[in-house]
Amino acid sequence: MVSNQPILKLAKIEKVYGTAANPLPVLRDVNLTVDAGEYVAIVGPSGAGKSTLLNILGCLDQPTNGSYYLMGEDVAHFDDPRLSSVRNTRLGFIFQSFKLISHLSVLENVEMPLFYARKPKRIRHRRCLELLEQVGLSHRKSHRPSELSGGECQRVAIARSLANDPAMILADEPTGNLDSVTSADIMGLLGRLNDSGRTIVLITHDDEVAASVPRRVSLRDGRIEHDTLREASN
Ligand SMILES: Nc1ncnc2c1ncn2[C@@H]1O[C@H](COP(=O)(O)OP(=O)(O)OP(=O)(O)O)[C@@H](O)[C@H]1O
Ligand SMILES: [Mg+2]
Repeated sequence: MVSNQPILKLAKIEKVYGTAANPLPVLRDVNLTVDAGEYVAIVGPSGAGKSTLLNILGCLDQPTNGSYYLMGEDVAHFDDPRLSSVRNTRLGFIFQSFKLISHLSVLENVEMPLFYARKPKRIRHRRCLELLEQVGLSHRKSHRPSELSGGECQRVAIARSLANDPAMILADEPTGNLDSVTSADIMGLLGRLNDSGRTIVLITHDDEVAASVPRRVSLRDGRIEHDTLREASN
């Protein structure tokens, strides 16, 4: 079934830290719609609220006010068990520091989301071997993360983010710990995932990375300042 429903829609999102006496507004009136298959880079100066916004998108944090429709359902004020179920079934995460589990093998790391989803071992193995193949790391499946390069660790994390076949991948500075050649390689992999239909929202500081992403949303002082689509290059 083809749906016209956006993957996500934020309406009048506000996030306020601090105390009632001394409030610290971090996101103000953020409105954003992302359709299925889009690829969005969130950019902006340090402290602009990018990670706060991505944490809300990832159901890792909740807004103070406003609505967050994820696949049509307002998840903004879900309780913890429901938020965790949304994260496990609909979202994939990639982090700057990879966040792999050091005492598990590469294959076991990729399997983690399916382990939490209580999928049988045989199914976990089959799917995760395919994903390792897709990111070019089948030959490293029994290695530990400490035996891999940074770029290889990020490929494992990308495979892990795909394990539960998420509706959207969220990535906070996925190339932040990588040199420019490895960074281009990881962006190539993410670009191919988007070409095959995967919705991706990432944060980046890096202009070169942002320039390779079709849609750019810039945040400043907690507000969306620009939301631009890159002109087609051909
Ligand atoms: N848990 C918290 N409690 C209080 N203030 C917070 C909290 N988390 C973030 N902030 C503040 O909110 C603002 C936005 O932080 P955020 O981490 O979203 O910025 P960012 O755009 O991701 O910055 P960077 O590029 O440095 O990662 C900052 O001023 C930060 O100090
Ligand atoms: Mg940040």
